[in-house]
Amino acid sequence: MAVTSDSTRIPLIAGNWKLNLDHLQSIAFVQKLAWTLQDAKLDFRKVEVAVFPPFTDIRSVQSLISADHYPLVFGSQDVSEHDSGAFTGEISGAFLKALDCSYAIVGHSERREYHHETNEQVGAKAAAAIRHGLVPVICVGETAEDLESRGPSAVPVEQLTIALAAVPKNADIVVAYEPVWAIGSGQAATPDQAEAVAAQLRLVVAEALGNDAAERTRILYGGSVKSGNIASFLREPNVDGALVGGASLVVDEFAKIARFQSHVGV
Ligand code: PGA
Repeated sequence: MAVTSDSTRIPLIAGNWKLNLDHLQSIAFVQKLAWTLQDAKLDFRKVEVAVFPPFTDIRSVQSLISADHYPLVFGSQDVSEHDSGAFTGEISGAFLKALDCSYAIVGHSERREYHHETNEQVGAKAAAAIRHGLVPVICVGETAEDLESRGPSAVPVEQLTIALAAVPKNADIVVAYEPVWAIGSGQAATPDQAEAVAAQLRLVVAEALGNDAAERTRILYGGSVKSGNIASFLREPNVDGALVGGASLVVDEFAKIARFQSHVGV
């Protein structure tokens, strides 16, 4: 079936801070980011800018954004598949919603690799996020070995298909295609590679959640995104934003990425 690109999808530029910046540093960072983007007259109707701080920063980020009315949104880097109970160290989607999180990343490749998260668990986490009114940012992507043995799209398609089996039809989700070999390596995928997989992933969303959801769903590319390559990804019809790691920790660089629409030739 054909799912075409829809220019009404507002691009999402998402900064995944990983294990960086404590709550005091998060305040200084978000303040500077907001000022930089406002000085540059970024049109926040045309791009959504989100930060994903460590859990311990979220309350500080929430207080600052709400007190100063910054047009920024935020989310968590993970969420428990459980709502409450004897799960030491877990964070409930209910708690994140109470702190005004909009999004929760689930299934980042670092959690899949270091914490052995399965596709089923990623689906359960996505479902938990949705249950609490958070939009899950479901991460998928192939390793260099997967790329060699199965090609670029087989593993991400499989990961997303299994995760979405737990997600209600027509749910609001974001998908992040992040080839593991491109994360933190300085070797980004090409825009063509990202587009080819993103198009496949949109078909998976259509199949699992319906055509309307597929048209609405933003599919991000992640893996060594910088201000110098962001515009080329966003020119692709099925790429609707970026999940940015390293480059999201430098305010001026992240602000330039958020301002990709002002780059020459866009
Ligand atoms: P990177 O990380 O931008 O540093 O490659 C991306 C990610 O892990 O989300």
